[in-house]
This record gives sequence, structure tokens and C-alpha cells, in this order.
Amino acid sequence: MTSKGFFNAFNDVWMLDGVRTPMVDYCGAFSQLSPTDMGIKVAREILKRTGVPATDIGSVITGNMAPGDFGQFMLPRHIGLYAGVPQEVPALMAQRICGTGFELFRQAGEQIQAGACEAALVVGTESMTRNPIAAFDHRTGFKLGAPVGFKDYMWEALTDSAPGIDMIQTAENLAKQYGITRADVDAFASKSFAKAVAAQASGFLAGEIVPVANETFELDGYASRSMRLAGKAKEISADTHPRISPVEVLAGLRTVFPGGVQTGGNSSALVDAAAAAIVASGAYATAGGHQRLGRIAAAAVVGVPPEIMGIGPAPAIRLLLARTGLTLADIGRFEINEAQGAQTLAVGRELGLDLARLNVNGGATALGHPLAATGVRLTITLAREMQRSGVRWGISSACVGGGQGIALLVENPQAA
Ligand SMILES: CC(C)(COP(=O)(O)OP(=O)(O)OC[C@H]1O[C@@H](n2cnc3c(N)ncnc32)[C@H](O)[C@@H]1OP(=O)(O)O)[C@@H](O)C(=O)NCCC(=O)NCCS
Repeated sequence: MTSKGFFNAFNDVWMLDGVRTPMVDYCGAFSQLSPTDMGIKVAREILKRTGVPATDIGSVITGNMAPGDFGQFMLPRHIGLYAGVPQEVPALMAQRICGTGFELFRQAGEQIQAGACEAALVVGTESMTRNPIAAFDHRTGFKLGAPVGFKDYMWEALTDSAPGIDMIQTAENLAKQYGITRADVDAFASKSFAKAVAAQASGFLAGEIVPVANETFELDGYASRSMRLAGKAKEISADTHPRISPVEVLAGLRTVFPGGVQTGGNSSALVDAAAAAIVASGAYATAGGHQRLGRIAAAAVVGVPPEIMGIGPAPAIRLLLARTGLTLADIGRFEINEAQGAQTLAVGRELGLDLARLNVNGGATALGHPLAATGVRLTITLAREMQRSGVRWGISSACVGGGQGIALLVENPQAA
């Protein structure tokens, strides 16, 4: 497996804290919320929780994959402005598909290390529900008898046209390559659900969630924006997908492809959510007396064959370890996105991972995978879990459609 790719080491770059919305099953209570508004919600909340004045933010770095409304071009700017960040401060949209959230931390690390800013607002946000039904061919009209181009953007976007397969098929390829059976995947998924349910019951997950209710965001001199929950919900304060899922129940679900291993029960759930963090220099944190949740120590990004895109975390983690001089045994916790169960198991087998250290509060099978928000969510959960369990080093990582892997190394300041 390749060890090429790029790598960053960061000396003094910190996540002060992070927060997220609940992750809500698609077509549910968040179905009327734009990614921009979910992003504003978490941006405002993280500024409040950290006590960082919005006027101290020197860079707004956002991620969003699918356009959730016609305002997506302005999403980075609107998240910053409606969070109170000064107009002079620039805002960026970064895109690395399922690796986007991690990429936001990586870019914040580069900016802070280069001295471009002292504190960055990082926001990943995704509405899977509001993926448009889109057509790209009709600006010039509809020719008689020609095919009408409207298609489900999400469904189409989950296919990689280069190898001509969708993301579930990339996991099926890994299942064959690593000898992973349906029973293996269902057993892994069942545990993911059980861990998430336990993390909800213990209150661990609630600690990183800001409840969402109907709300209006004001910005002096500009249009107000509103969030309205769908249906009768008054407030959503917990993830909606986790439920106890015995292996016997999962085993009864239909596979997406005949003869395959992936089902709706052992693949990442489709959810709507946003997550935000403040990333700052150590000097800034010290001067402001801010708490530090974790040090963003290093980042690695690699390319892998598109048809087995799900293996991406393995070489990314290998590169991270090779360049930092750490070993797998040094890493007390891993958060690796469960895009598909067979995919995560393949990464585990490729690396020889101790699965007891992996996704200990449940993974995307149970909690969901809101594409651009995922990396921010996983890195927040990782850093909080590292503090809870007292481990020093942790890695958050994901595979990336098209064939990439990305990984972040996080250090727990309380165990250093
Ligand atoms: C796998 C996938 C195609 C399934 O989509 P879907 O068919 O809409 O899935 P559903 O949620 O409707 O689940 C299918 C069935 O399983 C059931 N099910 C799902 N999870 C379950 C659980 N934990 N326990 C019991 N039943 C469950 C559903 O109730 C549904 O039953 P029904 O057909 O009787 O209504 C979709 O979830 C997916 O593509 N996930 C991966 C996303 C992805 O690849 N992201 C990017 C990574 S690169």
C-alpha cells in the first residue's frame, strides 16, 4: 500500500472545543433546515461555549458537499457573518468529500502554523435530505423526445463514474478482497448500534450536542434567517438513528446488491447535521485563558484506487504514524468513519487494528454520516473521548469517494 501522499505536522495548533447538532435521519425533523442555517447554529454555539469573541476569529473555514438551497455559494460567508465574525474576515469552502471535515482542521492548522491567523472557525455542515433533484442539461431547453435529465443528486453523486461503480460496490470489493462475510459486517454493525445507544444513555454524546429548535438569526442591516423544524417537533436534542439492533434483525435485511454484504442496517445512515470547532494557536489559547480540548498534532492525506476507496484510512494512518514516529500501540482511540461496515473492517484488517479502541461511542452505522460534517464530528468525539478515558494519542480518519484517505493525529493535553 502506498506511503505517498502529503503530511503536515503542527506544533502548537489546538482545538479549543467543538459542538454539533443532533444527527437526524434524513427526511426527518431537519428536512427544512439549510446547511447554512445549521452551520450558523453550531458556529454561534461554539463561540458561546469557548468564550472566544467572534471578533477574534481570523479565518472562517467551512465544508459542505451537496447544495441544500440556492444560497450554497454564499454558505461560508453567511455562516461567518451571521455568527458575528467581522466583515473583514475571509471565508472559505473546502471540499474533500467524506474527508472534508478533517480537511477543515488541516487547513486551519496550516493557516495558524503559517501565522495567517490566530483563531479559525471551522464548520462542516450537510443536509442529505436537501440534496436536489437536479438536471444539468436543460438551460438550452428540452428537445422533443430527448431524455429528461432530472436525477437524484445524492444517488448519482454516490457513484464514481471512473470505475463505474457506486460507494456500496467499493465496499463489496473490499469485502471480497479481505474475506469479510455478511455475518462479520452485521456483527460489527450491531456493536456500533449498541455502543451508540450506551453513549446516549450515559450522557456522553449529549455533551457535544446543541439542541435545535425553531430560531431566527439576526444580522444588523441584513435579512434575517430562520430555521423551522419539520412536523410537530419543538426541539431535537439527540441523534435519531441509534437503536438496539440485534444481529438476528440485521441479518434479515435485504442486501443492496444481490450476493453482497452491505444493507441499510450495516452501512452509514443518511442524516442531516452540522458540527463546528474553534482551532487556535497555543499563544492565543494562553492569552485568552481558554481551555483546550485537544492538540491537532498532524494530518496525512493519500490517494488509493477509486474502486477500493474505502481502504483510504489504512495508508493515511500508516503515513501519519511513519512521519510522527508513533506506532499503532501508542494510539489509544480511533474514530474511523464507518462509511460501510465492510469498508471499516477492511481497514481494521489491513492495519491489524485493535477493534476495542475503535469507535467506542458508536460509529456512522448507528449515528450517521453527514458528509462534510463527519470529520468535524468525529474529531470532536475523539478528543472528548480521549479526555474521558485519559489516553494521550488518538486518530480520526475517513475514506473518501474517488479514492482517498485522510487522518488526523490528536493529542490529549491532560495526558501529555
Ligand atoms: C445502504 C443504503 C443504500 C440503504 O438505503 P435505504 O434502502 O434507503 O435504507 P433504509 O434506511 O430504508 O433501510 C433499508 C431497510 O432496512 C431497515 N433497517 C435499517 N437499519 C435497521 C436497523 N438498525 N434495524 C432494523 N432495521 C433496519 C429499514 O427499516 C428499511 O426497512 P424497510 O425496507 O422495511 O423500510 C444507504 O443507507 C446508503 O447508501 N448508505 C451509505 C451511504 C454512503 O455510502 N455514504 C458515503 C460513503 S463514501
